[in-house]
Amino acid sequence: MAADSTAAIAVDPSVGAAADLVQRAPDGDALLNGVRLEQLLETDDGRIATPAYFYDLDAIAAEVRDIRSAFGAQRHLVAYAVKANSAGPIVRAVAGEGGGADVVSAAELKLVRMLGVAANGVVFSGVAKTDREIDLAIGDGASGILAIQAESIEEIPRIDARARALGRIARISFRVNPGIEADTHAYIATGHDEAKFGIPRAEIGSAVEAVAAAPNVQLVGVGNHIGSQLTVTDAYVGAVRMLIPVFAACETAMVQRGRPALEILDCGGGFGIDYGTAPVGSGRAERAADPGGTPRAQEEKSRVVRPAEFVRALISEVDRAGLSHTRVVVEPGRSIVGAHGVLCASVIMQKRARPNEAERRWLMIDAGMNDLIRPALYQALHRIEPLRKRDGESIATFRVVGPVCESSDDFGAHELPDPPPAHVVLRDAGAYGFTMASQYNGRALPTEVFLSGGKVVSTLRSADADAWVRSRVG
Ligand SMILES: Cc1ncc(COP(=O)(O)O)c(C=O)c1O
Repeated sequence: MAADSTAAIAVDPSVGAAADLVQRAPDGDALLNGVRLEQLLETDDGRIATPAYFYDLDAIAAEVRDIRSAFGAQRHLVAYAVKANSAGPIVRAVAGEGGGADVVSAAELKLVRMLGVAANGVVFSGVAKTDREIDLAIGDGASGILAIQAESIEEIPRIDARARALGRIARISFRVNPGIEADTHAYIATGHDEAKFGIPRAEIGSAVEAVAAAPNVQLVGVGNHIGSQLTVTDAYVGAVRMLIPVFAACETAMVQRGRPALEILDCGGGFGIDYGTAPVGSGRAERAADPGGTPRAQEEKSRVVRPAEFVRALISEVDRAGLSHTRVVVEPGRSIVGAHGVLCASVIMQKRARPNEAERRWLMIDAGMNDLIRPALYQALHRIEPLRKRDGESIATFRVVGPVCESSDDFGAHELPDPPPAHVVLRDAGAYGFTMASQYNGRALPTEVFLSGGKVVSTLRSADADAWVRSRVG
């Protein structure tokens, strides 16, 4: 990569709003970490082909610092939910700020350990852990990972048996299902009583008895996670208020049985980000009615609460309960990476159709639902902007779609320059973007490019289309 193509640029706040995380150079070029994205795509060595994700590692590290500083003197662990984005440079940036990890598979556990996260900085969630995964978690480091989150009473004797077989004590926490309805998309609400996650609060007494009957299991904490993309603190704080008495009751029960006191109170993740459109949760109806956004949707922008505010609300509950000595764990994923990753795509062509009175204008881009599935899966709307924006361009509304053979491969209606630009940027794609990507339709996985200090510091290329062909030949 030519050095000048990655040189950091001063930002003109009058062109891109200063608070916007993707900013604009004085001439209108989109910048991430001070780097002109268009220029990276135009380099003739062809090293960055679209679709490609770009991430701002410095901003990701700053998010972790921000969350950590909100804890003040409180002992804590920011266990980054790796499922949001498992790229090595990102996990390293989080670990570099003292963050740990929330993992959901053996592969994620192995990955974070290779990337410098300590065993006692890892929690392992998931409703269907295999024996192999349990063994890995119990056998890791000097005394296993920080906590295996038991999501059912039935898991407790299973973990006990594996610990006995390995000659170890397994550290577990109860993931409590509080029966709380979070105001978010149904697919990412996890703490209500029909969700598969967690042990129902009413059954925690039985879970305690299961631990009492499991000599190779130590209960180290309790936790919950009520859902993702929470934009206000109410339900989150409600869940913490429910969890604290469960913590106290479990601790008393353990100590009465001659077992150690609890160590951690895990209040999960779920802190939302501002997608600049309607939040996935409360804006759903409007999104269905008008994918382009509505005045109400715009108002909701200002109501997305920052992660530090969630943490401060949490800590005031912890203080009130006299639990300041306890290590408080949070498991944020989206809020650390979501706003600091973008997906860049090339415009392939446009299409006009007049099925009835109204003319439709489609813009076909080379990124599809296989690269970013959130719009198809959660009806999410990501802002789409030209990479190169120039004064005086005429603007038209385009329905932006990808090449995948599914009607749901549709990124919604967006105002874009007419004639259309060569490249567009899909914003706020850092979380649940690449990690949910697939090779559906024989497509390559997108390239990932990592920026820090105003330059490209790393690039990841996963399977390309030729690798797909080889893998399917059999
Ligand atoms: C147990 C658990 N913790 C943390 C997270 C991370 O949530 P978010 O990315 O919304 O912070 C999830 C997301 O599904 C989860 O299931």
